[in-house]
Amino acid sequence: MSVIKKVAVFGAAGNFGTPITAALVTAGFQVTIITRIESDSTFPDGIPVIRTEYTVEKLTTALTGQDAAVSVIGPGGLHVQVALIDAAEAAGIKRFIVDDFGWGPNFNSLPEFREIGTQRRAAYDHAKKLSQTNPNFTYTGVTIGNPIDWAIKRFPLMGFDVKQRSAVIYDDGTVEFTGTTLEGIAQAIVGVLKHPDETANRHVKARSIQVSQNKLLDALQRASGQSWEVKRGATSDLLESGREKHQSGVSGWVLELLVYQLFGPGGRCIVASKEDSDADLLEIKEESPDDIARKVLGSIAN
Ligand SMILES: NC(=O)c1ccc[n+]([C@@H]2O[C@H](COP(=O)([O-])OP(=O)(O)OC[C@H]3O[C@@H](n4cnc5c(N)ncnc54)[C@H](OP(=O)(O)O)[C@@H]3O)[C@@H](O)[C@H]2O)c1
Repeated sequence: MSVIKKVAVFGAAGNFGTPITAALVTAGFQVTIITRIESDSTFPDGIPVIRTEYTVEKLTTALTGQDAAVSVIGPGGLHVQVALIDAAEAAGIKRFIVDDFGWGPNFNSLPEFREIGTQRRAAYDHAKKLSQTNPNFTYTGVTIGNPIDWAIKRFPLMGFDVKQRSAVIYDDGTVEFTGTTLEGIAQAIVGVLKHPDETANRHVKARSIQVSQNKLLDALQRASGQSWEVKRGATSDLLESGREKHQSGVSGWVLELLVYQLFGPGGRCIVASKEDSDADLLEIKEESPDDIARKVLGSIAN
């Protein structure tokens, strides 16, 4: 495949879109941001922005002339992906990065997440179908596991209240999971677009680390130079509470069940060993628990 230079980003001001857009610019890609007419997102100066209705016709016009498109729209916008993919193919885009940034197409999720999974799969399947009928159109999904530095800071239910220097360790704290930092997520997109042949028509596996809560707690205590207050929690309580909330339509179930999946028995959130992952190909550096702790504490200080 010819070299990818021009890249359109959907969701460029989001949690992951912000670092991805910055990394693409730094890596030398010519970036264009595409955003909704009604969006109140703000974008960095110096990057062209196309504001458009998200119809296939209007999106095709917006995407014409681009080599690749990255879909990093938030969970509430996943239903628009099929239109984005149709427009990308019609516009002659060579690579469409579908919105995964999670656990990949074959993840053994709890049944409560199946509806969300179906929406994502509709986009993967659609991109795959178009890639089979049009060899000039290709797609990639990027599986990241847990967005570790961002998630620790954002969700104290993950066990670490970084401001209060306190932790809840679930069960025995030894269950491991795969994490990718914001830096690693952004580098994954750069890596896919720098290696289009090796990453065509599949989900790649990013990863920065495989780690447990106990190892993270040790590193956070070392990095902060303080002993943290530690309480114990049970993943079975998260499962019970999350399921009750889901059944009665009360919010909060998503996070409780996600944290259950992360730390619950069986280690289902190990997405890839270092060898099985695409981290080397994508040039994502392996990070230690101390690296993660420094990133988390540094972002709180800012
Ligand atoms: N693995 C994990 O634990 C994890 C955690 C967080 C997120 N994720 C996944 O990562 C992806 C990106 O999430 P994020 O948190 O970065 O997203 P986000 O910050 O919530 O949203 C990103 C952008 O999506 C666009 N958007 C929002 N609603 C939309 C709609 N209805 N239609 C079209 N576009 C819409 C907006 O862009 P404009 O305003 O410019 O249009 C918004 O700035 C999602 O697939 C999400 O599920 C995974």
